[in-house]
Order: sequence, then structure tokens, then C-alpha cells
Amino acid sequence: MKRTYLRIGLLQLLAGLLFSFNVGAPTSIPSTTLEQETSIQLAPDKLPEHVAIIMDGNGRWATKQGKPRVFGHQNAIQSVKEVVEGCAELGIPYLTLYAFSTENWERPQAEVAYLMQLISTTIDNELEELIQKNVRIHFIGDLARLPQRCQASIQKARQASQHNQGLQLTIALSYSGRWDLLEATKAIAQAVKDGNLAPQAN
Ligand code: IPE
Ligand code: MG
Repeated sequence: MKRTYLRIGLLQLLAGLLFSFNVGAPTSIPSTTLEQETSIQLAPDKLPEHVAIIMDGNGRWATKQGKPRVFGHQNAIQSVKEVVEGCAELGIPYLTLYAFSTENWERPQAEVAYLMQLISTTIDNELEELIQKNVRIHFIGDLARLPQRCQASIQKARQASQHNQGLQLTIALSYSGRWDLLEATKAIAQAVKDGNLAPQAN
């Protein structure tokens, strides 16, 4: 994902919320890096509870510059860091990043291997700073399909951040709509079995 595109996307999202729900002078909140950079005044009570981003365009961005696709993946890390920092700074409670879908397994083996390596290395490298920022890291998706090394990084990050109460960052890996529906259905079936949900409940 190209850094500028992502930043513009996030700002458009925030500006959109600002203009659609807060016509008139917004209550200003203390200056943040984001605001200083853009001069946009954000109304704290109008910010979204949850921002979700489907990561896309890394390869095209790199190709446009005559670089291999993996160059785009590598650069996306900086965009992700900026988004995480921006959300934490603004006090947005939930951020979900859709990073690697089940369809992405069909890519050339070398690209998949690079992505897996990048994912585990990035989790390992960023963990300490994320913990300091009070970020709790969650992972969703068919995680059993990931290489052992990735699963170990995930386990470590989950455990190390489990008591953090700031930004709730969810990273979706090996995700799909089908997987999501299946998990929701299983959770509903379990709730019915446990007597916590009536089958005829709305
Ligand atoms: C998003 O960028 C990253 C992943 C899905 C892993 P892409 O790799 O999909 O980049 P494009 O869309 O092919 O340019
Ligand atoms: Mg794509």
C-alpha cells in the first residue's frame, strides 16, 4: 500500500466523518501530529469507534516505480506504523488491518514466503514499541495455516500485550468472508448449546 494513498485514505475517512456528521464549527481537540500536518480540526466525539483497512496496491505501487512487488510490501510497513500511531494518538478504540487473505495463498511461492517472513519480523520488531503505546494486539483468520515462525510471533505478541487497554489492534491473516461467517456461526451455535442464546432470539 502506497504510503501517500493510505494517508490520504485515512484522512479522507476522518474528514468525511467530520464533514458529514459535524457541520459547523467542530469542538477542537488538542493538536496532534495528524492535525498539525493537515490543519484539519477533529471533533473527538465524532471520530469513528472502529477503523478497518483492507491493505491493497503494494505491488502496483512498486511496479510503477520499476521495483519488484516485494518493495511495495516492505514500504507498506511504514504506512501501517503511521496508521497505528495516528489511531492511537486520536484515541480511536479499534483498528483492524486486513493484511493477508486466503486468496493471497495462491500467489507465487516466493512472494508468499517473503510476506510471511515480513509479517513475523515486523511483529517481532514492533512489539516493544506497541506495548509501550498500550496497544493490545489481536489476530484473526485461519492462523493454523501460517508458518510456525509466524504463529510463534503471534503467540508472543498476544501474550505480551494482553493487559494493554489502549488501541485494540486486530490483524487479519489468512482471512476470508467465508472464514468469518463460519466463525460467527460456530460462536452462535456454542452460545445456544451453553444456554446463553435462545434459538429463536433475534
Ligand atoms: C496488498 O497489496 C498486500 C497484500 C494483499 C499481501 P497487493 O499485494 O494486493 O498489491 P496489488 O494490489 O497487487 O498491487
Ligand atoms: Mg491487491
